[in-house]
Order: sequence, then structure tokens, then C-alpha cells
Amino acid sequence: MAAFINSKTNIIDLKNITVLFKNQRKEVRAVDNVNLAVERGDIFGIIGYSGAGKSTLVRTINLLQKPTNGSVIVNGIDIKKIDEKKLRVVRHKIGMIFQHFNLMSSRSVLGNIEYPLLDQKINRKKRQQRALELLKLVGLQEYVSAYPSQLSGGQKQRVAIARALANRHQF
Ligand SMILES: Nc1ncnc2c1ncn2[C@@H]1O[C@H](COP(=O)(O)OP(=O)(O)OP(=O)(O)O)[C@@H](O)[C@H]1O
Ligand SMILES: [Mg+2]
Repeated sequence: MAAFINSKTNIIDLKNITVLFKNQRKEVRAVDNVNLAVERGDIFGIIGYSGAGKSTLVRTINLLQKPTNGSVIVNGIDIKKIDEKKLRVVRHKIGMIFQHFNLMSSRSVLGNIEYPLLDQKINRKKRQQRALELLKLVGLQEYVSAYPSQLSGGQKQRVAIARALANRHQF
């Protein structure tokens, strides 16, 4: 795996991505031969009608959705060609925020943000410190001990953003 970061390579390169879903009788071509390149630092939007295939396309970026055809290159690595173990490492570095935020209702805001850090070798104090930092970043420090049911949609989304950023491997 490339250990250096080349600022000139695209961070994401999707080449000829097609995703077919085969249901009982009909076949849905959710993504039809899409090519796109995202340069490091770019902010990239995907616009389309509901059901157009936006989420399906985005889910191919970490192979949550295996494309029927095409290649997915992230930071110069063709991630369809690496083994599961390496894929897990790559996935850890790709933060995804889902439409349904999947916040855990029995955990506090802080507990939700801390969650992705639980399987990492950092102590409780550092973990909480990191989660608090992220909570500040999304402007929700007053909600540290609130529960998801007490938040608005946008606040829930911000917690999900903080949780996605918690995966970053830098402390
Ligand atoms: N697992 C699946 N099995 C079968 N069909 C699916 C599956 N997931 C998505 N589809 C279909 O693929 C198409 C694209 O779905 P997708 O979720 O990518 O749309 P979207 O652009 O994200 O829509 P929205 O704006 O509503 O979120 C839709 O027609 C959907 O019904
Ligand atoms: Mg969607």
C-alpha cells in the first residue's frame, strides 16, 4: 500500500462504475457507467432525483456496495484488488455519514462519538478528550450528555459528522 501521500493524485477515482440490482423479476441499473475524479481537498456534490443512484454510487467508494463493473481507486489504491484486512484499514479512513444517522439511542452524544474509538488502543481519558474536541468542532458542546432523541435532525447529523471524523488516525 502506498505509504506516502502524493498531492497530485486524485483522492477518489471512480472508473466506469455500474451497479445492477437484480430483484425477483426486474433488474435495476442504479448506476450506469459513471466516471468521476475527486482531487485532494475538493468538495464534490452529487445531485439527482430521489432514487437516481446517488447513495449507491457513494457506497461504492468504500465498497460497502460492490460495483457490478468498474474500478474504485482511493488514494491511488485499487481497492477491489486488496484483501479484506487491508480493506478494513482503508475503510477506517473513509468517514461516511449515512442518511439514517444510526445514532445509538441508548448512548449519549459523547458515547456515540466515542464509539468508533472503542476498538482502538487509546485510554478512556484520551478517547473522551478526542470526542469532546470533535463535539466542539461541530458546535454541540452543550449537548455532551444529551441523548439522540433530544436533538433536532441537523444536530443529529452533526453528531454523525463528529463520529465519522473520530475514525481519523491522529491523536
Ligand atoms: N439493495 C437494493 N436492492 C435493489 N434495489 C436497490 C437497492 N438499493 C437501491 N436500489 C434501487 O436503486 C436505485 C438507486 O437508489 P439510491 O439509494 O442510490 O438512490 P438515491 O439517489 O440515493 O436516492 P435518494 O435521494 O432518495 O436518497 C433506486 O431505484 C433504488 O430503489
Ligand atoms: Mg440516497
